[in-house]
Amino acid sequence: MPSLSVFGAQWGDEGKGKIIDFFSENADYVVRYQGGANAGHTVVVGGEKYVLHLIPSGILHPGKVNVIGNGVAVDPFKFLEEIDELRRRGVAVDGRNLRLSAQAHVIFEHHRLIDQLSERWRGEGRIGTTGRGIGPCYADKAARTGLRVADLLDPERYRTRLRAALAEKNALIQRVHGEAPLDLSAELERCGALAGKLRPFAGDTGAEVRQAYRSGKRILFEGAQGAMLDIDSGTYPFVTSSNTGANGIPSGASFPPRDIDRAIGIAKAYCTRVGEGPFPSEQANAIGNRIREAGHEYGATTGRPRRCGWFDAVAVRYALELSGADGWIMTNLDVLTGFGSIEVAVGYRIDGRETRSWPADLASIERVEPLYESHASWTEDITGVRSFDDLPRAARDYVERVEREVGAPILMLSVGPERSQVIPRGATWKSASPAAAAPGGATRR
Ligand code: GDP
Ligand code: IMO
Ligand code: MG
Repeated sequence: MPSLSVFGAQWGDEGKGKIIDFFSENADYVVRYQGGANAGHTVVVGGEKYVLHLIPSGILHPGKVNVIGNGVAVDPFKFLEEIDELRRRGVAVDGRNLRLSAQAHVIFEHHRLIDQLSERWRGEGRIGTTGRGIGPCYADKAARTGLRVADLLDPERYRTRLRAALAEKNALIQRVHGEAPLDLSAELERCGALAGKLRPFAGDTGAEVRQAYRSGKRILFEGAQGAMLDIDSGTYPFVTSSNTGANGIPSGASFPPRDIDRAIGIAKAYCTRVGEGPFPSEQANAIGNRIREAGHEYGATTGRPRRCGWFDAVAVRYALELSGADGWIMTNLDVLTGFGSIEVAVGYRIDGRETRSWPADLASIERVEPLYESHASWTEDITGVRSFDDLPRAARDYVERVEREVGAPILMLSVGPERSQVIPRGATWKSASPAAAAPGGATRR
């Protein structure tokens, strides 16, 4: 299986960083294809915690090529800061193990500023963005006024294009938002030194990854955010500005869709969301607070407390279907230890009608009443368990029940933040077909 898509199947923060790091051992390339430094992917190895924002989570494994594809919105200062931080901690990073697409769009100061000003402008209707300039950068990409990494490498082109972009953005900043304009010469100066620093990493990463795939290398695609934050299929407008699942790979990594061999979603044993927008199984009460404290559910990028609730089988089923997932991985099962009773949303009631399908329109999603089923919890510490059969009976029952509801095999369980805290269950991409490994069958292929 030379290529594998690993993506978030909820509202982000499902534990993708940990799982990508785990799979990286058997990969040759680890490729980010969307999002930007709005992501916060946590990897814990030997008690050392790393939070990666832009750089793929394969970077901690020596000898892997980590790629930031053309679909990523790149903040060049954050990119360089992250490299410095990794080097300071003894991780080797250079132009051989880290590649940056020359076609990736660049986030500038005006994107960050406009992100924040737009949120203020929206008032009650704010999205609760990470304030990292993601939306405005993708908006400029679509409007064809953005600058790409290649533009930064060409001083003359860079000056002309940034001057033109800032003239328009400053009009917006001043006349719509009533704020002081950005100083063009200061911005030109600040970014002028970037070319020399970015050049060793920059290249045609799409061609590099396609060539690697053709020569039999194993390619792991690292999704950021989650399916329910997808700009097309998520809870629009409370979403991020990219396609987060396997659907984002062809355009965001310049990789042919037919060459995506497998797709695996990641979902927690419960559910979280950070920022505004609908969240049907949210528990804005003592239960949610208890999940937050037990799971340390505070944003890896912004530190904001995450909204917490029960596992939503309707949403995860939808997420896996969108990316044609072969199966999924359940993380944070350990967090539900000692809860007494655990609920799972197995369907929705909307205006008196019951459904097991995700509704496409925001108005319906906002009126959803989840239909819950209760499960018994367990009290034993499961963080040291490494085999499914060694889990307490109630934990096994919970996993199997959720698996049946979602209708796609759970290929692995995660029972703690450390790289080693996993319970393999059926096949991973090292071995054969996952469909045979667990009940429920694959949703595709
Ligand atoms: P990502 O954005 O999907 O990579 O997820 P985040 O890193 O933002 O958030 C996941 C959090 O859960 C991090 O603090 C991880 O260290 C932690 N984590 C990952 N897997 C597990 C698990 O199985 N159990 C527990 N308790 N924590 C986990
Ligand atoms: P990872 O990759 C969770 C959310 C923000 C906000 C919305 C739009 O760590 O799972 P943006 O700054 O992207 O314009 O914000 O999306 N959001 C995330 N939530 N995890 C993330 O990334 C997120 N990236 C963005 O909170 O609701
Ligand atoms: Mg995160």
